[in-house]
Amino acid sequence: MKVLVVDSGGRGHAIAWQFKNDPNVREVICAPGNAGIAREIRCENARANEEFLELAKREKVDIVFVGPESPLTNGIVDLFTAEKIPIVGPQKSAAILEGSKAYTKLLCRDIGVPVAEFEVFDDPEKAKDYVGAVKYPVVVKADGLAQGKGSIVCSDTEEAFHAIHHLMVEMAFGDAGRKVVIEKRLYGTEISFFVFTDGESLASMPVAQDYKRAYDNDEGANTGGMGSYSPHRLEGEELAKLVCEKVSMPLIQGFKEKQEVPYRGILYTGLMLVDGIPYLLEANVRFGDPEAQVILPRLKTPLSDISFQIINGVLGEKRVEWSPDYYCDVVAAAGRTRQMKGGKSKGWYPGYPARYGKGYPISGLETIDDPDCRIFFAGVSNSATKGFVTDGGRVLHIVGRGNTLSAARDVAYRNIEKVHFEGIRYRTDIGREKE
Ligand code: AMP
Ligand code: GLY
Repeated sequence: MKVLVVDSGGRGHAIAWQFKNDPNVREVICAPGNAGIAREIRCENARANEEFLELAKREKVDIVFVGPESPLTNGIVDLFTAEKIPIVGPQKSAAILEGSKAYTKLLCRDIGVPVAEFEVFDDPEKAKDYVGAVKYPVVVKADGLAQGKGSIVCSDTEEAFHAIHHLMVEMAFGDAGRKVVIEKRLYGTEISFFVFTDGESLASMPVAQDYKRAYDNDEGANTGGMGSYSPHRLEGEELAKLVCEKVSMPLIQGFKEKQEVPYRGILYTGLMLVDGIPYLLEANVRFGDPEAQVILPRLKTPLSDISFQIINGVLGEKRVEWSPDYYCDVVAAAGRTRQMKGGKSKGWYPGYPARYGKGYPISGLETIDDPDCRIFFAGVSNSATKGFVTDGGRVLHIVGRGNTLSAARDVAYRNIEKVHFEGIRYRTDIGREKE
């Protein structure tokens, strides 16, 4: 069969690579992909949902798999389904679980899924009054999509006031911050938990740890994710049962009952485990990035089989198999560089997740020939004169494999040292603490 993967980053590379190794799959196309993915998978330049549809029809693809949230919240599944092209993901009305944090939190409260105490505001003054009245630290979250950067974890009232101003008055993420959720800050163990679901039954995936903060020891701003590893030390049947019973299943069923729409595809819940209770911090309607890069290499069941089971509503009939191997992903990001114009320095770019420069040549990739190391390409493009150059905030995912977490981590760090571009920066503590 022929598969189209819609994505442009490291997650899309991992999904496309998984299909490439799938015995049922003859050809994989990634759209738009990037220059790094194009080393091993055909990439086609499509960006809007109508362009993906045109490409899928032209190429007569048998199935489409969507990586990021925005095509989903823009209704790609409805569009393809109307044309009878099989596609994996929730329809537009179900993608609201990611598209509106306020909606999801209110749904959770309604159906009894554990969430931190919260309120929703569309008036910054009322939001500030609330923060002043509650006696605990809060997290201020933009309601809409903000590329994983719209939640501001605050230590005190002053920080929370700043966060409200940043999101609601300065509109740092545009309309996404018109409404905010303000919730109690929780302290516990954070995990990313994914399930495949056909709207009725679900199959849980291995547990991954994501590193959201920009700097070591979880300091600095939130990012899309600076690294990940899997399995997590808490992974196992007990945790999977707990989360499926308390969070994933109620959310899927509750959504269907309220909206009369099945939720199909991948459900990603960001959870904080506090005293054995899994609190839902966020729900996403897709694979995580960089979690997919450490979960998918562990998948032994063909992703094409799972995809058709999701679409045909027969997921419950088969078991999904996973390998016990450890994978650790360290993200090479665009750090601090000089901002040049006309050969003159114009100050500095602070680096991802704030503003960063682009177009710096990437060297050393050819020196990585370790069978336990894979590179998933994210913000990379091709320059006619310079070869591979940086083209995003997260540039490369260097993924190590091992029989233990420390072995996987060593592979990733040993190999990331071989890569260079101006301003390269990565966290040095991915996978270090919890074995
Ligand atoms: P979200 O956009 O909701 O996933 O939040 C991004 C990150 O902020 C999460 O991955 C957590 O690290 C952190 N966070 C979100 N909500 C809370 C909370 N209630 N308490 C503590 N940390 C949180
Ligand atoms: N790793 C966080 C996300 O994909 O949203």
